[in-house]
Amino acid sequence: MKNITIAIDGFSSTGKSTLAKQLATKLNYIYVDSGAMYRAVTFYAMQNHFISKNEFKIEALIAKLTEINLKFKFNPELGFAEIYLNDVNVEREIRTLAVSELVSSVAEISEVRKMLVEQQQEMGKNKGVVMDGRDIGTVVFPYAELKLFMTASAETRAKRRFDELIEKGDDVQFEEILKNVQHRDHIDTTRDDSPLIKAEDAIEIDNSNLTKTAQFELVYAIVLEKLN
Ligand code: DC
Repeated sequence: MKNITIAIDGFSSTGKSTLAKQLATKLNYIYVDSGAMYRAVTFYAMQNHFISKNEFKIEALIAKLTEINLKFKFNPELGFAEIYLNDVNVEREIRTLAVSELVSSVAEISEVRKMLVEQQQEMGKNKGVVMDGRDIGTVVFPYAELKLFMTASAETRAKRRFDELIEKGDDVQFEEILKNVQHRDHIDTTRDDSPLIKAEDAIEIDNSNLTKTAQFELVYAIVLEKLN
């Protein structure tokens, strides 16, 4: 069977990574969570005191970008690749609300985007990849054979993120998560460099009322058509 590139874009917490992981497992493709890369750079910036809620030393972060080494290593127990920042597994650290609150500001910086887009293109150069993010179908892989654009209401998405964080034992309020989701939607769609937009040839999937299984079946049927 031929290998294709599957680009999944959409708003935060639309279940992109769940779907991407399901597809990668089923097709035996590489799965790349591009958001994890922006989160890891943000975590690096926080650790080095380049960014906080009150200030952002953009030039200082840009000067250190060459010192950021990101790698994905497949974890067979989890069934997907975890992200390593300078050889340290930061999969847990990058999913906190503190990182979520700052990541959109880091993702606005063109130098950061340029560096990460190059790495993403390199990871997908042999096809057989499912990548999710905001600019995968528009910038990273404009020639992807299949592009999906995922949406769901802000409330549905905030509830999903809230449930995830509570399950992990984080102390968070629903209102706080909803505000974060709406704030990130705004920054992600209005930034100058590679804003989140639906590629002309992307298939839109609103999963507000779809179970994970129903969504997977719907998308997998589309994938099979592309493979034939
Ligand atoms: O998918 P996520 O919520 O983990 O992404 C975190 C942030 O990274 C999101 O607010 C926007 C940014 N991002 C981006 O700008 N481009 C991508 N390809 C992926 C994520």
